[in-house]
Amino acid sequence: MVRIGVFDSGIGGLTVLAACRRLLPAVRFYYLGDNGHAPYGSRPREEIASLALRAMGRFARLGVDGAVIACNTVTAVCIGRLRAACGFPVIGMEPAVRPAALACKHVLVLATPRTAESGRLQALIARCRGCNFEVCALPHLAGAIEGALTRGERLTLSDHLPRGLYDGVVLGCTHYAFFREEIARFYGCKVFDGGEGTARRLKSVLKLGMDDHAKPPQTTVNPNICFNQNCKERGAKGVIFLGKSRKINESVYKTNICFRKI
Ligand code: DGL
Repeated sequence: MVRIGVFDSGIGGLTVLAACRRLLPAVRFYYLGDNGHAPYGSRPREEIASLALRAMGRFARLGVDGAVIACNTVTAVCIGRLRAACGFPVIGMEPAVRPAALACKHVLVLATPRTAESGRLQALIARCRGCNFEVCALPHLAGAIEGALTRGERLTLSDHLPRGLYDGVVLGCTHYAFFREEIARFYGCKVFDGGEGTARRLKSVLKLGMDDHAKPPQTTVNPNICFNQNCKERGAKGVIFLGKSRKINESVYKTNICFRKI
């Protein structure tokens, strides 16, 4: 069975995990959300890279066949370093700028500060002619969503979102996708996120096969050691949640309305 690690700073990547599971129901997914350090979006780049490398080490010890970085911020900051360090394919994610440019003329891109300032995002936008983009860095929204959905803290979206008239909004942070419908209503326009595109990319990488990628180094660690009894009982296709906050991630995933279709 193919095994794929999905990583985010916290709960945001659960929105990508949901898309991946819809498209690839036979794959065994491991989810690692680093809630203890979320949000990542304003942290120094070196710190983000070191936290992400640590997560990839965890996946490597499990012997995964590949990893999805379900975090625009980590992708923007250090996807190249992660790919160089891992012996398995690492799939990053990008704000859905291209699909927005195909459908709209005036687009707002909402993202964390590290994503908003990144050369990757600027390059992506520069390749989309005929569409006008405004990028807005939101320093606190991902943390507020993390707080609202894991600790029941109060969240008022309008305190975070800039006002303006747009015909498309790109959700450049996986946390924002939890409030996709509310954000669409706030702006009264189409909303784009990268979850489905990332799942399709994973599917095509799996289809191509892993042969052109180096296999992870053989490890003497039994990959099953981190499976707890519950995980074993849940059957082959369930998600295995990893890390100190695995219970939080698991409960957000299982109880959130966005994921009922799975
Ligand atoms: N969910 C992440 C992203 O897509 C990170 C948010 C954060 O931790 O600031 O950018």
